[in-house]
Amino acid sequence: MTEPPSEPIVHVFRPDAIGRDVRVRGWVQKSRSSGGILFLLVRDRTGIAQATARRDALGPDAFDAAEHVQVEGAVRIVGTVADDRRAPGGREIRARSVELIDPGLPFPIFADQTEEYRLDKRHLVIRSAEHVATFRIKAELLRAFREFLDREEVLEMTPPVLSGNAAEGGSEAFRFDYFGRPGFLSQTEQLYLEALLAPHERVYALTPSFRAEKSRTPRHLTEYLHLEVELAWCDLAGLLDFTERMIVHALHAIADRRPEELERLGRPPRELAAIEPPFPRIRYAEAIERLRRAGLPVAWGSDLGSAEERALTLEERRPLFVTHYPRELKAFYMLPSPDDPRTVEAADLLGPEGYGELVGGSCRETDVARLAERIRATGSDVAEYDWYLDLRRHGSVPHAGFGLGVERVLRWALRREHIRETTPFPRTPARLTP
Ligand code: 4AD
Ligand code: MG
Repeated sequence: MTEPPSEPIVHVFRPDAIGRDVRVRGWVQKSRSSGGILFLLVRDRTGIAQATARRDALGPDAFDAAEHVQVEGAVRIVGTVADDRRAPGGREIRARSVELIDPGLPFPIFADQTEEYRLDKRHLVIRSAEHVATFRIKAELLRAFREFLDREEVLEMTPPVLSGNAAEGGSEAFRFDYFGRPGFLSQTEQLYLEALLAPHERVYALTPSFRAEKSRTPRHLTEYLHLEVELAWCDLAGLLDFTERMIVHALHAIADRRPEELERLGRPPRELAAIEPPFPRIRYAEAIERLRRAGLPVAWGSDLGSAEERALTLEERRPLFVTHYPRELKAFYMLPSPDDPRTVEAADLLGPEGYGELVGGSCRETDVARLAERIRATGSDVAEYDWYLDLRRHGSVPHAGFGLGVERVLRWALRREHIRETTPFPRTPARLTP
C-alpha cells in the first residue's frame, strides 16, 4: 500500500492550516524534552516548523524512541496544526506520530570548531542555514545569467574541458596523462567559443575552469565556474555594455527573488537592486596616475595586483571597468588599440570595495600574421595553435568576448570574506577532499 504523500513544511504556515492534519518529513534541527513533551524543530527544503509530541499521545515506547533522535536525524511526523505564540512563526504541529527514518548519530558539528575541522567536515557543514542561503542565491544567479543570455539570443555551447593545449598560459594549467600524451584541464573555453562563432555568431559556455595557481588568497580557487561569452561583430564599447547589462540583470534578479536569503547573509537586497548601468570606466593609464597620486609605487607597465585593485575601488559602490592595458600585461589573442598599439582593446571589471577582478574581456586579434607573431613572442609553439589560426584564414570577422568568475561575483554580491564560502566543495592548493 502506498502511504499518503508528505507535504512541504511551508504548508504549516498557510492561513488555512490551523486545525488541519499534516504529514511532513525532514531533518531535526533541534530537539528538547521536558515534562513528558518532546519539542522538535524540523527542517525541509521549504521551511522549519516546530513539532511537539506528548508521551500520552505517542505512547511510552514510541516516545522513548523519539527522544533519542539526534540533530540531523530524519523523521516523518503526522499531526495537527495549532496556533502557538511561542513557536517559530506562531504555529506548531501537535504530533500523533513521530516516525524515525534515521535517528542519526550525534552530529559532529557545533559552534567554535576550527576552520580546518569545518573544511574536513564540509559534507555536513553545508547543511547550515548560511550555506543553504548561499547556494540558493547561487542557483538563482546562474538562472539569471542564462535567462539574460537566452533573451539576447546568445546560444549555450558545450566545449570540452580536456584539451591538448594550455590556452591561458602553460605554467598555470593542470597537466595530466592522457593515454601517454600530455593533457590539460581547461583554463578557458575561449578558443573553442571563437571556433563556434562563425556558425552561431553569439555563444556562451558555463563550465568549470582550472588554475594550478599556488596562490592562497581569499579570491582564488583551483577549480571555479567560468561563464564565457563570445560575440561576433562586437567592439570594446559593445562588450562593456553587454557585460554590465548582464551583471545588473543578475544582481536585480537575486535581489528580487532571494531577498530573505540575502538578508540572512547580511546583504540588504536593496543595495544590489540599486546598482544600475553604466559602470564607471577608466583607462589603465589613468588608473596608474590615480594610484601614483595615492602614493603607490607604480608606473606605466606595472601590473595591477590586489593592492592596486583595492586602492582603485575602495570608495566605489559599483564595479569599475579598467580598459586599454599595456599589451605586454595581457594574453596573446588581444587586439591592439587602433589609436595606440602599445595597448590592447581589453577591459577588466573590478568589484567595488576591493573585491578585485570579476570579469576579464577583450576584442580579439583577427589578422592571422599578427596573431602568429604574438604567439611566437610569448614563447609558445605556433604549430600547436594552427587550428586556432585557421579561424583567421576562413572568414575572420571582428569579435570580442569575456570570462566571468561566478564565485568571484558571488563573493562580492554576498560580501563573503573568502571565495570558498561561495562553492560547496572548494578546491584550493591545500584541499582536494571531501
Ligand atoms: O581573466 P581570465 O584569466 O580570462 C580568461 O581566461 C579569458 N580567456 C576569458 C575569456 O575572455 N573568455 O579569467 C576570467 C575570469 C577572471 O576575471 C576571474 O573572475 C575568474 O575568471 N578567475 C578566477 N576565479 C576564481 N579563482 C581563480 N583562480 C580564477 N582565475 C580567474
Ligand atoms: Mg584576467
